[in-house]
Amino acid sequence: MAKRVVLAYSGGLDTSVAVKWLAEEMGYEVIAMAADVGQGGDFEVIRHRALAAGAVAVEVVDARAEFAEKFVLPALHANALYEEKYPLVSALSRPVIVSHLVKTAAQYGAEAVAHGCTGKGNDQVRFEVGIRALNPDLEVVAPVRVWGFSRADSIEYAEKHAIPIVASKEKPYSIDQNLWGRAVECGEMEDPWASPPADVYEMTVATKNIPEELVVSFEAGKPVAIDGDAMALEEIIASLNGRLGAFGFGRIDMVENRRVGIKSREVYEAPGALALILAHRDLESITLERDLAHEKARLANRFCELVYDGLWYSPLREALSEFMSYSQRYVTGEVRLVAEANRVFVSGRRSQRSLYDYSLATYEKEDAFRHSDAEGFVRLWGLGVETWAKKQRKDS
Ligand code: ARG
Repeated sequence: MAKRVVLAYSGGLDTSVAVKWLAEEMGYEVIAMAADVGQGGDFEVIRHRALAAGAVAVEVVDARAEFAEKFVLPALHANALYEEKYPLVSALSRPVIVSHLVKTAAQYGAEAVAHGCTGKGNDQVRFEVGIRALNPDLEVVAPVRVWGFSRADSIEYAEKHAIPIVASKEKPYSIDQNLWGRAVECGEMEDPWASPPADVYEMTVATKNIPEELVVSFEAGKPVAIDGDAMALEEIIASLNGRLGAFGFGRIDMVENRRVGIKSREVYEAPGALALILAHRDLESITLERDLAHEKARLANRFCELVYDGLWYSPLREALSEFMSYSQRYVTGEVRLVAEANRVFVSGRRSQRSLYDYSLATYEKEDAFRHSDAEGFVRLWGLGVETWAKKQRKDS
């Protein structure tokens, strides 16, 4: 029986060439597995392309709901922004793709899985560490890392083997996209000082500028409705991507620290992700007690590093997610957002479980705060510092 490999297939140039290469050079029967994580595109076209490239079978998995519920939602609970900016778009999709690679390998009795990542990026780390966590017996093949093809070589290889590809010579960008956003790198942007060319943007092209209000409802930290219309999480994200991207909102331009030690310039578009994190964090401002909120933010930083570094399937990430999820019990309520040209901001928040107490906060006559308690509290709060100042402070 021929040995089999399951390839994570995107339909792009590299993975199309990889189908042929794995068959020709490595002697594998290739099963192409394409996961729909909300990147758009026509999966029938992708299926035919994989077959034309020489795959013996193609599996198309609709992973959108699973991606939203099991991967994006834990990240939203953590308000996860790597290096305070990047909502982990690609980093979150790899573990769900990995889980389907491993499942498909079991289904087809494959001994190996393959991915189309280069040797310079984070995604090879996420694929391979994830695969080893879920099934350490699988062999991993990374054709793009070993074949040493330039882009021109790949195009030539594709032409020689009649692989139907769509490689545009004008746009030299590397793009990764899913429900949670879009990442673009390469081309002119490799100079961190160069402004990104206008044609890199797709989700955040402004067509609207008349301000709009919208209300996002959350239940235990999960977005459940927009303007009172209940929707599945993946629908909420997609709808916000469209509605807020149309204001030109959601762009991120950053130089980030990759796991492999390289600084790289990346441009992201993530209108839905940024708006949901903004709204969610705001709702937490009235529903989380102070110490919990502050500790949660510290742990979120660690969560981001783990997810970015390919350690989704790890005991610490799992434990942190349990903590985050527990913290969400009362994060139920509504946040009103305003969208206007190139920005989105919060204009109100409310919750049945709010810790905001009007009678404590107000300066009006309803004030129920016991002012007399403050004097002794402040005196003791400052007592240590006062003693130090009297005895030790240098210039006293
Ligand atoms: N830098 C991002 C990450 O490591 C995105 C990687 C994929 N980017 C791309 N343009 N293909 O998560």
